[in-house]
Amino acid sequence: MTESRTERRPPIAVVGAGYVGLVSAVGLASIGHPIELVETDRDRLSQLRNGEVPFSEPGVQEALTAALDSGGLTVLESTARTTAGIVLVCVGTPIDDRGHADVSAIEAVLAEVTALAHRPITVIRSTTPVGTCQRLLRDGHVVDPSRFFTVPEFLAQGSALRDFSAPHRVVIGRSTSADPAAEAVLVELFGVFGSPVRVVSLEEAELVKNGANAFLALKISFTNELAGLAERSGADIGPVLEAIGLDPRIGSTYLRPSFGFGGSCLPKELKTIATSGLERGLPMHVTAAATEANRAQQRLFAERVDTTIGGVAGRSIALLGLAFKPDTDDIRFSPAVELARWLVARGARVSGYDPKAAVRAGRAVPKMTVCDTALEALEGADVAIIATEWPEFKLLDWQLVRGLMAAPVVIDGRRLLDPAAMRDLGFDYDRVGSPPSEAAVRVS
Ligand code: UGA
Repeated sequence: MTESRTERRPPIAVVGAGYVGLVSAVGLASIGHPIELVETDRDRLSQLRNGEVPFSEPGVQEALTAALDSGGLTVLESTARTTAGIVLVCVGTPIDDRGHADVSAIEAVLAEVTALAHRPITVIRSTTPVGTCQRLLRDGHVVDPSRFFTVPEFLAQGSALRDFSAPHRVVIGRSTSADPAAEAVLVELFGVFGSPVRVVSLEEAELVKNGANAFLALKISFTNELAGLAERSGADIGPVLEAIGLDPRIGSTYLRPSFGFGGSCLPKELKTIATSGLERGLPMHVTAAATEANRAQQRLFAERVDTTIGGVAGRSIALLGLAFKPDTDDIRFSPAVELARWLVARGARVSGYDPKAAVRAGRAVPKMTVCDTALEALEGADVAIIATEWPEFKLLDWQLVRGLMAAPVVIDGRRLLDPAAMRDLGFDYDRVGSPPSEAAVRVS
């Protein structure tokens, strides 16, 4: 069934095999589109050619294997060789400290597209600051503006494949000279899952993407600020947020307190938006404050750990979770990794464990001891910190852990564990968003 559909359709080139590109590639392959996946990085290319996914994302390995086995996906080392009618540009757009995005990888792909003998529909899926696509047009990077679009992606790591096939919306950004036939092809391609489709200008599409991520970041920053206030007011943030979230104008998502947000998108998008505004003479107070709040919340949590155990220097600390969130091996802007750096810089002995991200985190924080299991990290520890809410930490035999640790102190940065159960087991258990526990069994 899939193969016969594959035979009839022209190939789609997906350039860049990062999260966005690889997930789009296997997602489109799974619904019968023949895919040419282009990757220029040699290591990544050879991994893909061996059928290996270069990062951890639920379901993607299985989907890649199926696509390669069926012949529905081929791996190329250059866009110059594509015969595709549609090119999806999914390359990285890293930002510098001042919030400026480096879009040279997009420009390089566009140069290769320009050199092709045919004129594919070219779609930017990489995240770009508002105004970037217009600038690419203005500066002559696009050979045919009528076939140039941006369709931002809204995948979240850990649920990327699910998000691919059930996006909240499809946003198609087009230039004023867009070819209606090309636009219709994209509406059909991306609208296939029945999500609402909005066709807007290039700048509007970019701003939807920038704005949606930044808004999520604001929501978390505010949640964490309120959680801090709860801690100091004798209130527990749990029932507070539950009741706040019942108001449909606010909603209950992205109200999970943490000690800060991370990842490759939310922190970046706040900076991008702030810089975009400043460049246009707007101060962007709210956006800039959210970045600062996120930094402060991470620092406050680190200081709470320090206070709880009477100073981290010389202490044995088990850090459970290193990825920026569960179900990924990504440590970019991970609050857990930042915390590990802070702790080792103050003389703590940190034993870190993460089901997927341990190796990467170990490279990022060489002074941290990377453990193969949570129990190994916890053995002899003066305190355990839950830094990423992996479900396996909830399932640990905490009674056993109590016997392994040097002192039964747990500080939960993600509100993963049940306070009553932990205290029944004899732990001194603290968590973000709740006042510090009174039955203190402090480290001596
Ligand atoms: C984010 C957006 O959610 C996606 O819609 C978007 O497509 C993606 O960026 C992107 O631009 O590519 P992602 O970075 O994978 O996705 O992660 P999120 O699930 O949004 O989480 C970001 C951070 O916020 C994590 O550190 C997470 O632990 C934290 N978080 C999230 C909280 O602390 N509290 C919450 O309630 C939710």
